[in-house]
Amino acid sequence: MYQVIARKFRPQRFEDVVGQEHVTRVLCNAIELDRLPHAFIFSGPRGVGKTSVARILAKAINCEKGLSRNPCNMCPICEDITASRAVDVFEIDAATHTQVEKIRDLIDNSRYTPTIARYKTFIIDEVHMLSRSAFNALLKTLEEPPPHVIFILATTELAKVPVTVLSRCQRYDFRRIPMDDIVRRLRLVANQEQIQITDDALVTIALQADGSMRDAQGILEHISATGKGSIGVDAVEDALGLVGRSTMRDLVSAIIKKDAPSTLDVVDRVYRYGQDLNQLYRSLLEQFRNMMVLKAGYMNVTLPEEEMTFLKDLMTDISLEEIHRYLSVLIRSEEDMKYSSITRITLETILLRIISAPRVVDLQNLIHTISTRTGPLPSGHVQQISSVDIYKRPPSSLPLSWDGFLLYLRDHDQPLYAIISSATVEQDNGNTVVLTCPSQFLADQLKKTLPELTKRAKAFLQKDIVLNVEIKEADTFENKKPKPSEIRSQALRSPLVKEIITEFNGVVKNVKPKE
Ligand SMILES: Nc1ncnc2c1ncn2[C@@H]1O[C@H](COP(=O)(O)OP(=O)(O)O)[C@@H](O)[C@H]1O
Ligand SMILES: [Mg+2]
Ligand SMILES: [Zn+2]
Repeated sequence: MYQVIARKFRPQRFEDVVGQEHVTRVLCNAIELDRLPHAFIFSGPRGVGKTSVARILAKAINCEKGLSRNPCNMCPICEDITASRAVDVFEIDAATHTQVEKIRDLIDNSRYTPTIARYKTFIIDEVHMLSRSAFNALLKTLEEPPPHVIFILATTELAKVPVTVLSRCQRYDFRRIPMDDIVRRLRLVANQEQIQITDDALVTIALQADGSMRDAQGILEHISATGKGSIGVDAVEDALGLVGRSTMRDLVSAIIKKDAPSTLDVVDRVYRYGQDLNQLYRSLLEQFRNMMVLKAGYMNVTLPEEEMTFLKDLMTDISLEEIHRYLSVLIRSEEDMKYSSITRITLETILLRIISAPRVVDLQNLIHTISTRTGPLPSGHVQQISSVDIYKRPPSSLPLSWDGFLLYLRDHDQPLYAIISSATVEQDNGNTVVLTCPSQFLADQLKKTLPELTKRAKAFLQKDIVLNVEIKEADTFENKKPKPSEIRSQALRSPLVKEIITEFNGVVKNVKPKE
């Protein structure tokens, strides 16, 4: 039952082979020109058409109607090859132990002429698994091939085939079959087999098959055997034990919203449902990867339509830099996940790490915001604070220091933080903090926020505090020509630089004054 679709839908003509046109085109040409080598080698992943093409080729060169790129598929020889019972076509699987013994003899006997076909044709699958003696026999034959012998070798591991063999073969590399081709083929199979299934469900299957048509068809067959009625994405996910799309969506949105409780909740759900947390992790990586490439303007991503809409909506809330950062943490932590015996805790730790990290400020946006702002800051948070609790310290475990205050701002008031990070603390004697700005413009911006900033600093630090702004204009810097060490220490004092260093685990190598 399980093999029915694969067999029934095995391509019988070159033009029915999907996604390997680069191979079939060249083969057809060689046939048409009657320039066939004695040995071919087909390499590529499993289930992409190597055996199918080998059989079509065997028919093309042996068909009773004569050498043709379109074998008749009806003469006894074609029919026997289709049914794998042709006396002159030997299909050998080098991965099967019982066959290994016989292979050497078979190859040794290839010098005898074929019984009825034109060529003695050897199709040797997984040829890299041949025994040493079989390889030697093969080499000997390939060095002086009898005119009536053709070898079609296939392998999923080309690197393991001895170069001595490779150098005597014409090589064809089969590729993973593109997603769209698989979906189209699955649709054809479903229609012919009267399987009712949605397009999105087919895409889900194709995604899982990772380029293998055989796997894709196998999954379709398996699901159609167990399911009733029209098959949707849910049925496919259930059958494959995949973490559901809706679960994935909940997780991704929770992470982007930096909503820790919801994030942990999804992990808990998946865990209790008995699903594989590593699989969840891989799907999550995949999702962020999709978001990254979409955000970068690469639209060639095959996804169920709903999924695409969801990702596109979500992407407006997140910058490319931010996605990069998530991904790099996920990639770096992949090993931890794989080898952890406590996957749940490991996963929770990684996810919390991602969401508790400060937002990466999108520099471009930031510069734009600062340079176009004229009036006072749009500070949503600030307006919510009534005069009553101005002097109440916001709940925070951060230290009662200026640095603590900056960290607090960073997490609670991005605009204000962005402005203040352009300044450096010149002096901080507890009650007076002197901030310097590199330009008149930035100083003006900062001054506008001073009342607000002071209010917040007082509340946070729980004491009276005076903030002063000083300007050190760029040209003043230049006039004074500060020593490189001064520039350096100044740069290192900037909160923004500090933040970047901790976040990216970086080192400041070189500091150049702005031109
Ligand atoms: N390129 C393809 N086009 C159409 N169907 C394919 C293709 N590749 C594989 N299939 C399907 O998968 C089945 C197994 O393919 P096969 O040729 O044996 O793959 P391989 O030898 O590369 O592992 C075929 O019977 C066919 O149904
Ligand atoms: Mg095969
Ligand atoms: Zn024929």
